[in-house]
Amino acid sequence: MAVVLDYKKYAQKAREAGAEGIVLLENSNNVLPLVDQEIAVFGRTQYDTIYCGTGSGGLVNVPYVVSINEGLKEKYTLAEKVDETYRNWIKENPFDKGQGWAQTPFSQKEMDLCEDLLKETSENIDTAIFVIGRTAGEDKDFTLDKGSYYLSEKELKIIKDLRKHFKNLVVVVNSGNVIDLSWQEEVQADAIVFAWQGGSETGHSVVDVLSGDVNPSGKLPDTVLRDIKRHPAFKYFGRVEENLYEEDIYVGYRYFETLDQENVLYPFGYGLSYTEFEFEVLDSLVNVNPKADNYDINLQVRVNNIGNQSGKTVVQVYGSKPQGGLGNPIRELIAFKKTSEIPAGKSEDVNINIDLRDLKSYDDRLNSDTESCYILEAGEYKISAGFDVRSAKDIENIFLEDTIVLEQLTSRLSPQISFKRVKVVKAENGLELDYEDVPNRGYAEVPVLESDIKQTDAEFKLTDVISGEVDLDEFIAQFSDEDLLQMSYGNGMGPIGVTAGIAGAFGGVTERLLEAGILLYACADGPSGIRMDNGSMAFSIPNGTCLAASFNPEINQELFEFVGLECRKNNIDSLLGPGMNIHRYALCGRNFEYFSEDPLLTGVIADSQLIGMKKYNVLGTVKHFALNNQEYERVNSDSVVSERAAREIYLKPFEYIVRSGNAQSIMTSYNYINGLHAASNYDLNTAILRDEWGYDGVVMTDWWAELNDKPYSSSNKENVLPMIRAQNDLFMVTPSADRVSLEKVLEVSGKAEINRSELVRNAKNILNVIIKYSQAIHPLSVEVQNEPESNSDKIQVVDVYQDKEKVDINLADLSTDIGYTIQLLIENHTSGIFELRLDATSTAKDVAQTNIALSINNVPERTINFVGSERKQENIRLDLRQNLLNVVDMHFAESGIKINSAELVLLEEKNR
Ligand code: BGC
Repeated sequence: MAVVLDYKKYAQKAREAGAEGIVLLENSNNVLPLVDQEIAVFGRTQYDTIYCGTGSGGLVNVPYVVSINEGLKEKYTLAEKVDETYRNWIKENPFDKGQGWAQTPFSQKEMDLCEDLLKETSENIDTAIFVIGRTAGEDKDFTLDKGSYYLSEKELKIIKDLRKHFKNLVVVVNSGNVIDLSWQEEVQADAIVFAWQGGSETGHSVVDVLSGDVNPSGKLPDTVLRDIKRHPAFKYFGRVEENLYEEDIYVGYRYFETLDQENVLYPFGYGLSYTEFEFEVLDSLVNVNPKADNYDINLQVRVNNIGNQSGKTVVQVYGSKPQGGLGNPIRELIAFKKTSEIPAGKSEDVNINIDLRDLKSYDDRLNSDTESCYILEAGEYKISAGFDVRSAKDIENIFLEDTIVLEQLTSRLSPQISFKRVKVVKAENGLELDYEDVPNRGYAEVPVLESDIKQTDAEFKLTDVISGEVDLDEFIAQFSDEDLLQMSYGNGMGPIGVTAGIAGAFGGVTERLLEAGILLYACADGPSGIRMDNGSMAFSIPNGTCLAASFNPEINQELFEFVGLECRKNNIDSLLGPGMNIHRYALCGRNFEYFSEDPLLTGVIADSQLIGMKKYNVLGTVKHFALNNQEYERVNSDSVVSERAAREIYLKPFEYIVRSGNAQSIMTSYNYINGLHAASNYDLNTAILRDEWGYDGVVMTDWWAELNDKPYSSSNKENVLPMIRAQNDLFMVTPSADRVSLEKVLEVSGKAEINRSELVRNAKNILNVIIKYSQAIHPLSVEVQNEPESNSDKIQVVDVYQDKEKVDINLADLSTDIGYTIQLLIENHTSGIFELRLDATSTAKDVAQTNIALSINNVPERTINFVGSERKQENIRLDLRQNLLNVVDMHFAESGIKINSAELVLLEEKNR
């Protein structure tokens, strides 16, 4: 029986999820919901609505995007003259996509507003909306410039002018990352709506909230600051060497609520509603008795809707630990629950279970009594609950007489250089900032497996393993060392044998492996929808920050069931997402893909997305493990971090999804962690991930990752032995794994032989995932309903009349911008085998990827990949015997390609 993928329902769910993440930060005099029928809307982003950030997570080829302007027009009358003036201006000043991969500017040029227009409009219209747009993304962090994190001069002027002229001013921020909002203290806009980037349905989600069809219930997943320069990471963010994580565990609100409350403009967890909520504690049951191994706390809270509209809110529970010897933030999120829609005047009872051990600390101090242990330090623990971190009220106090050791571990990921970290100390008037040395234990050699597994001459097929006739070990034993080495690679980008134009595939990457029945396992970007650089369309969903701001795992799960189904429709085994790095600092370009500054919120939301996709046996590949908190020089930057901060903050969300059992595919990050690249990091990928947390899935590198052997040793992409030893199972990606030679790998590594046991162990990780999750092994037929039509205006048709041996094709005036397609309609006179000779240049930088996805007569042919800026001359073989008219599509999934020349050359005449 077929499962139905109904795009109408998909869009509806995305619209709901997008609206649910929108955070209302200000609403004086109840200016929202908008009751006026006529409004004046300013800012170009109302038209060029930013539905997603840039880079691999933003390259969904969307069939449509509902702009904020379109959404508003479905409900309201917009001031005509303002609308018309903008439309005319935009014709002259089109959206600037930038040159090259992921190079869209942070903000776009804004139109000057003339005084007359403002005066005239504000005579009849009370309410002005100003839409501010921002983008950032992979390989490109925000900067502390105007037009990036800060408003541009022009935007500031527009806001001030609008404030002056209109009775009501509503500001809508259309940005995946938090931006500076400190202008509010001067401007005093009546309403600020943080709308994030809502994917294809952005305009609808925004208008649902502005109109009150949806009562906002999004809460801030990050603290919004008055002055980002007072952020403890300010000194280090953007550094390549010694990017010191001096703030240690005091990330986001953990720092600001503890040490600099004045700097908080809007606290973590904050967000208004059109109604008002109160809560009362009905009961709290504390059953903490470490001797009996009891750590349970149960809270029963009643949420009363005391306003006059129905709405949802989020009950947030925070814990605070004794300062102890380690030092701690004053509050940490330990549980949250979103209510259902509570009618006005009604209430809902919320039951929350807490395990006190979730407040455990990791003791990384040298020579302490509890060195390398997870502990609950002796002293007072407080539990508080409320609607944001600041206003939460204390409910329970628990006193632990003695320090409790929960787990004795071995030190891992220790920093190799000396630096100081923040330490909170008790002072007369509360808590004070101090610093202490970060413990440094040096480097422990990686244990080596005994290489005692021999090759056999059996000839099994993977189906023998699936049917239970043959053991996986026996199956693997038949492969040579070189076969197993080749299995440690993924093919890509745009691998052959799977859906065209996707990021990569692993498993049956060579003839030999395919012959043994190993299937190709297809992986496609990314967190905001499926990226297929082949011209196929996919749905774009709200960005990570928006989905986290919903504080609603259920809606995330429901939305990702649709994503899972869409993966099935397109034969994608694994979606390369969610991205779940912690928002260390607001400028990280990829914050839009990630969720929050809080590890629990990140873990819960990621987990719900994984569960959603798994409903249809689709795996999410969670990324980037770990500490990829800036994009600038992401391959070379060294995240220098204490073991405590790594474990308590940056690894914690990954631990959450591994322990829940929902993660079976993980992508490591590009960066170094304390001098050792994540992908060749044994502590990370084996000792912590597998031995401590019990992970049994596959681990892959990020695309063309760098590897090194020892902390601060030089790195390269060729010596994969340290990666294999670390149990990062797959190097992603190589054009074709059958060209990988054992001899060459041994030569670059300076080793005489490869450790066969390590190869076998990793092959098992890979094959186990393929057996459990390959779509070919677990088929499902998907019936598609209400699929949106593609926007054909981006297809540029070129007639090619082939009447001689060589035909020059002039493509000079055509657009190769993101989303455009050049379609050659070849009418051939001669029947035979031809070559399309393309000469093209990419202007992208570093490891940025651009490509041309080619398909012939609608059958995806191949993707020409460019890494960084390079020129390529490619000859594409065309068998033009069957048809008289042949269609060659060249699709551009990113901007930045220049076609220097194209010609069609006859190689050999052959009869049809
Ligand atoms: C990104 C990954 C992505 C991969 C494949 C890399 O540049 O960092 O997140 O999945 O490319 O496109």
